[in-house]
Amino acid sequence: MSVSKKEYKRVTVKSLVDMKQQGEKISMLTAYDYSMAKIVDAAKVDVILVGDSASNVMAGHETTLPITLDQMIYHASSVIRAVNRALVVVDLPFGSYQSDPKEALRSAIRIMKESGAHAVKLEGGVEIKESVKRILNAGIPVMGHLGLTPQSIYKFGTYTVRAKEEEEAEKLLEDAKMLEKIGCFSIVLEKIPAALTKKVSESISIPTIGIGGGRYADGQVLVIHDLLGMTHEFNPRFLRRYMNLYEEMSDAISRYVSDVKSLDFPSKEEQN
Ligand code: KIV
Repeated sequence: MSVSKKEYKRVTVKSLVDMKQQGEKISMLTAYDYSMAKIVDAAKVDVILVGDSASNVMAGHETTLPITLDQMIYHASSVIRAVNRALVVVDLPFGSYQSDPKEALRSAIRIMKESGAHAVKLEGGVEIKESVKRILNAGIPVMGHLGLTPQSIYKFGTYTVRAKEEEEAEKLLEDAKMLEKIGCFSIVLEKIPAALTKKVSESISIPTIGIGGGRYADGQVLVIHDLLGMTHEFNPRFLRRYMNLYEEMSDAISRYVSDVKSLDFPSKEEQN
């Protein structure tokens, strides 16, 4: 099966639209720090998302709500220093864009200016239309995010699949069309039925990136800690683990502890 159709030295928002037109699937992964981003970029992932999932996997919060704009900028600047090829998209965190469009623009400008990121991502549809428009008018590329939008978890009350009912599915489709119309370059579709992902992806010309949205999205995104098997207690149906890093790391660290205790480490050869 063909994987890559064209060599992209530097992935841009235009490259992603080209990939959709060429039928090439888009790969997206999260990263939050320099060392991880360097590996992800070297492996030719197309888009690196500095997701507000940093609130969960980096800071240990239960939800994405507590992470601040300053903290997102810190993570994004570390990632940007590592990246040569990927497009770097940064989440606007909860509370940095919901009040009004001016606040949204100020937050997006801070991310772009202080981290050097290439684009921002915002959660929501028609409710945040004016904010998205204002950010786009300032020349900042915007990725949308529909379906299970984790910043609204307390409204949903559960992390289960969204838009199973017709009314919610119709609204999602309308929101996707609206985000395309006002100028977003791509939309994340999180945890929705595969049939709806297909319908949305076929209805708009900008690429959709799925997480728990099935195989019909124009690309896929995962949280890097999940893909590597570091978050071993998190087992959603959509997750494919490519490693069991939790076990491998635990084993390596236990062996280190044991070597230190037994005076095996450092050996004569490992001292000056
Ligand atoms: O914050 C994040 O990691 C995300 C992805 C799950 C899409 O928004």
